[in-house]
Amino acid sequence: MAGCYRARVSDSSRDTAAGAGWGTAEPGAYRSLLPARTERLSWLDPRLLWAARNGVLASWLGDPTGRTRARWAAQRAAAGAPADRVVRRDDPDSFSFLVIGDTGEGGDPQYAVVPGLLRAGRGTRFAVLASDVIYPVGGADDYGAKFFRPYRDYPAPVYAIPGNHDWYEDLTAFMRVFCDGAPPLPPGPAPRLLSRARLRDALWHRARPGDGRHLDEARALRAAPSQRASQPGPYWAIDAGPLRIVGIDTGLLGTVDAEQGAWLREVSRGPRPKILVTGSPLYVDGEHHPCPIEGGGTVDDLVRDPAHRYVAAIGGDIHNYQRYPVDVGGRTVQYVVAGGGGAFTHATHTIPRVSVAGVTEADFRCYPLRGDSLAFYGALYGRRLRMRRLFALTQDEATAVVAERLGIRPGRAADGDPRVTRRVRLVAGLLGTGSRPDRRRRLRLPVRRMYAQLLSPGSATHGPPFFKSFLRLDVTPESVRLRCFAATGNRHRRSPRRSRTR
Ligand SMILES: [Fe+2]
Repeated sequence: MAGCYRARVSDSSRDTAAGAGWGTAEPGAYRSLLPARTERLSWLDPRLLWAARNGVLASWLGDPTGRTRARWAAQRAAAGAPADRVVRRDDPDSFSFLVIGDTGEGGDPQYAVVPGLLRAGRGTRFAVLASDVIYPVGGADDYGAKFFRPYRDYPAPVYAIPGNHDWYEDLTAFMRVFCDGAPPLPPGPAPRLLSRARLRDALWHRARPGDGRHLDEARALRAAPSQRASQPGPYWAIDAGPLRIVGIDTGLLGTVDAEQGAWLREVSRGPRPKILVTGSPLYVDGEHHPCPIEGGGTVDDLVRDPAHRYVAAIGGDIHNYQRYPVDVGGRTVQYVVAGGGGAFTHATHTIPRVSVAGVTEADFRCYPLRGDSLAFYGALYGRRLRMRRLFALTQDEATAVVAERLGIRPGRAADGDPRVTRRVRLVAGLLGTGSRPDRRRRLRLPVRRMYAQLLSPGSATHGPPFFKSFLRLDVTPESVRLRCFAATGNRHRRSPRRSRTR
């Protein structure tokens, strides 16, 4: 299984604009699945930003996640969860499963994924939700519209790792839903007076009293025996057929505590081929983020160790699809970003020309394609700033200007001969095409850093194309085939690209 992946292209966003999701006015079947009233999250709403403040507090005043996680672990151990946190499933040597990242906004983009997910997911033995199961703060009463309802017709179990948003109420609802109804943690010891921890404690957002009153009712939507899943905690390993899937919990700030790090070292041992699932992708936006482990070392050190036999590392958190086939001592590890399962779409046109760990543009893949991302954000800014004529780019113009600015081949052949005018270049520059998030060399709308934190979440649209995606993995004793399926929200188009490992 630890071999090389080979890309096979099918009906794809790289072939046609329609394949990317543009062009049809006929939305897909998902609308009938939506609840009568859907909450439209606005990440520009100050009340919502205030409720989601714990990440900022943790970065300013110290991150309590590791300690809270240890308390959850102690509670689970007392309740009889296996000490090695391994779920031993009874799957055949050849089986399939799904990975869906960053799902839980509960609006059109999340539900638009569902019909394709059910179709492409036929025959899969289970699904893994890779981080941010519930936005904005992981609340228990949000599980109905954002988890149980959308996936009620998926007939198999769903396991999950939490993302930062699931931690905003100390993981309480996540533990209750995925870990056998774990009761809330009793209050922890009070921090010292006049300490930073005391201040953090005073400002900390907590679940509102009575949250979860509707949870039992919501659970009934996925109550079939075939849908039942139990996992030993927020981080776990699943032994399925010949494969071990290792899910880690990177908490509020994308790090791993010492206790979890020791466990990760332990479960990474052994001859089974492995796939890591994480809420903090190790390669993303053309950069390497190895994910530190408290006390030393990184998650990527463990993934790269040939004795551990990792063949892929899949991360949510960034809401699009990216794939980096990295040569690690003569074998290829597929590093994948798979956060396109339902929430707003993060821009890809801001990804600079890829050159990282030997991966270049020839091997890098993303969805949406950068040109489609730029055209999408152009339309969005045009609407927001009431300057539609200035910002509107055709997909061909956007594709051409991305290729010009990054010095790469166009992501898709144009219909005609698009003109890259001064206006097109200006818009591409203003929208941060090909610029890393932390470079501030010239006037630019804050597309990645500020925009990703504050404004990009406001890019949620409620009509197609949505540029969403999810993964299906087909496992045999000899290979894992990893396929990314797109969900545009429009009828007909689904599968942008496929890749296979041998
Ligand atoms: Fe997310």
